[in-house]
Amino acid sequence: MKIVVGTREEIAKKAAARYEKLLNERPNAVLGFATGSTPLDLYGELINLNKAGRLSFAEVTSFNLDEYVGLDGTHDQSYRYFMNENLFNHVDIRKECTFVPSGLDVSDEKAAQYDEAIKAAGGIDVQLLGIGNNGHIGFNEPNTPFGSITHVVELTQNTREVNSRFFASIDEVPTHAVTMGIKTVMNAKSIILVALGKAKAPIIRETVLGEVTPKVPASVLQLHPEVEIYLDYEAASLL
Ligand code: PGA
Repeated sequence: MKIVVGTREEIAKKAAARYEKLLNERPNAVLGFATGSTPLDLYGELINLNKAGRLSFAEVTSFNLDEYVGLDGTHDQSYRYFMNENLFNHVDIRKECTFVPSGLDVSDEKAAQYDEAIKAAGGIDVQLLGIGNNGHIGFNEPNTPFGSITHVVELTQNTREVNSRFFASIDEVPTHAVTMGIKTVMNAKSIILVALGKAKAPIIRETVLGEVTPKVPASVLQLHPEVEIYLDYEAASLL
């Protein structure tokens, strides 16, 4: 694991530089994107680099990690909507080459087809991840099998509570989601995990230094050969 520590601004710029290098070497890269508050600074940097002509998404294919069940792409809390608003609408990516699991057409079979689509596109070159306070990656909550592929999950009460800040009330937070599995994530050729803020410090310590266990889903990243972890000083404070 390579660990990069800096201010929020510095790590967003460093992670963006990683994408600049990749897309200049491999314009048709397959990118795995994430939602949440963590990637927003990075997406802002990617938009700036795109507008400055320093990188292009014109030949990129993308796959997002997850989506809420029951929300269609026009719902302002759907992850499709998030991606359009925070990245896709502002860069030269072809929308038809951006994939987010469907929150409406949901079945185990449909979920498994997402892994097939990723394979058919050549596999993910760089998968971006945030991390939950409980170590979840995507919506893979603690005790998700490491062999899991894209699947439908019931969200934990904790995750629903944490995410309720974006909804009018907790009752409106969906109870289920579709998420890439741990194996889907681990199949990516390289992985960038970003964590910001003091609340993430304990789980970052467990992820990087603790036992590799399904109890801490992100700990599986210790087994991947190409992982970069970008931390602000607060998130890195217990390392
Ligand atoms: P956050 O969420 O970026 O909003 O902290 C990360 C996650 O839960 O994966």
